[in-house]
Amino acid sequence: MGLRNTASQWGRVSRAFHWVMLAMIAVQIPVGFWMVEVYEVYTETYADDTWVMYTSRIHHTMGFLVFGVALARLGWRVSNPTPDLPPALTTYMRWLVRITHAALYTLILVYPLSGWASLSAYEGEFPIFFLLWDDMPRIVPQVEEGATFTYEFFAEIHRYCWKVGAGILGLHVLGALWHHYVARDGVLLRMWRGG
Ligand code: HEM
Ligand code: HEM
Repeated sequence: MGLRNTASQWGRVSRAFHWVMLAMIAVQIPVGFWMVEVYEVYTETYADDTWVMYTSRIHHTMGFLVFGVALARLGWRVSNPTPDLPPALTTYMRWLVRITHAALYTLILVYPLSGWASLSAYEGEFPIFFLLWDDMPRIVPQVEEGATFTYEFFAEIHRYCWKVGAGILGLHVLGALWHHYVARDGVLLRMWRGG
């Protein structure tokens, strides 16, 4: 089994990207909710609170890693063939698959970018962590409350990513299960172990 994709199979690299991304997201979402819960308990003093800092460091770091892996994965995607879908799928189904996959790729870019932008815009002092650093560059200007592109503006996009993303991911997983149990066309297995 090769590293690169072929016209009918996913290579090792694409499969590794797919499942590593799932594992990262499975950690990142609960850490996100945990971090927000910790914020709420410590609203007055959160800049000094170590749990706010710990959860933020994990969440930001993992989010940046997701972003890096997403860029590498997209690079690999465009420089490799994409295995054809089973010929039995109707045109309508093919479009549904394309739109779902495009939405998933969009999400793994917009999710980290909106989180990063929200902290960049934040008017107060709050670290943007990556590994041991706490001073990642701002990607949008820092603004006061009342401006248009505030922390809340980007945080709202970030929260929407979950509302929209959970639905799309649910559809994606249902699709994978449908291929495996109903259509029995090997689509889940070709992503899992290469065919
Ligand atoms: C794919 C990557 C990411 C995922 C899946 C993710 C997921 C989440 C989730 C589930 C929450 C809780 C949302 C809620 O309260 O409804 C959250 C909150 C948050 N995340 Fe992320 N996140 C990601 C990347 C990042 C990055 C890179 C940063 C910053 C560098 C970041 C900063 C934040 C902030 C500031 C909040 C609090 C937002 C608020 O005020 O409600 N996130 N994230
Ligand atoms: C239990 C969870 C998951 C299962 C069972 C699953 C299953 C699959 C399967 C079987 C395929 C192959 C489709 C084909 O061969 O044409 C696939 C493709 C894909 N999956 Fe997942 N997946 C899961 C989670 C995720 C997550 C969390 C993401 C988030 C980014 C994701 C993003 C994608 C994308 C973008 C593709 C299309 C790949 C391409 O065309 O380049 N999947 N998934």
